[in-house]
Amino acid sequence: MRKDLGVKPYLFPMPVLMIATYDREGKVDVMNMAWGGICANKLVALNLDADHQTTKNLRLRKAFTVSIADREHMREADWFGIASGNDTPDKFERTGMHAVKSKFVDAPVIEEFPVTLECELVFDSNENDGPHFYGEIKNVSADERVMTGGRVDPALLHALVFDQFRGDYYVVGERVGKAWREGKALE
Ligand SMILES: Cc1cc2nc3c(=O)[nH]c(=O)nc-3n(C[C@H](O)[C@H](O)[C@H](O)COP(=O)(O)O)c2cc1C
Repeated sequence: MRKDLGVKPYLFPMPVLMIATYDREGKVDVMNMAWGGICANKLVALNLDADHQTTKNLRLRKAFTVSIADREHMREADWFGIASGNDTPDKFERTGMHAVKSKFVDAPVIEEFPVTLECELVFDSNENDGPHFYGEIKNVSADERVMTGGRVDPALLHALVFDQFRGDYYVVGERVGKAWREGKALE
């Protein structure tokens, strides 16, 4: 028996993305984002509330970084989704995390997060329940501690995912098969 649940943004898993930007003075802000992801080979899409400090920073500095939040930094990642740079000036400093300027874009890389996409803003729209932003990926950097054989290893990432149904975090990392190979049995 299936139940209709109505019009809801229900997919699982949703990512736990850390969007990092600079404000006018170069102060670091980071926010937690579930409604974002890869939408083309070089493009990242973000769905943002107009009032967020991040939205203002993005429009000003035209750049951002996107990091994958991990199990080890769940508390900080969640804090970045609770507090706003609008009214908590020490939002980032309170976590004790460290930021360095990206070599590729005008945005901070948060050193403790294991994988970061460094992006330049290329599209800004208010249509369809916006703002929506697209960023072009200018570089990806990863901590060697999460790499095996030169590639990022999801088993080492301990990446958080967001459960939109109940508002919980999960961690992923169990490899169960090979894409484009498991289905070949049906060829
Ligand atoms: C799990 C989680 C997911 C979130 N996803 C989004 C999102 O996709 N878009 C958005 O605008 N806000 C989202 N938020 C809310 C922002 O992270 C939050 O309002 C934050 O305080 C904004 O920070 P800022 O004002 O410093 O930019 C999310 C919060 C949490 C905890």
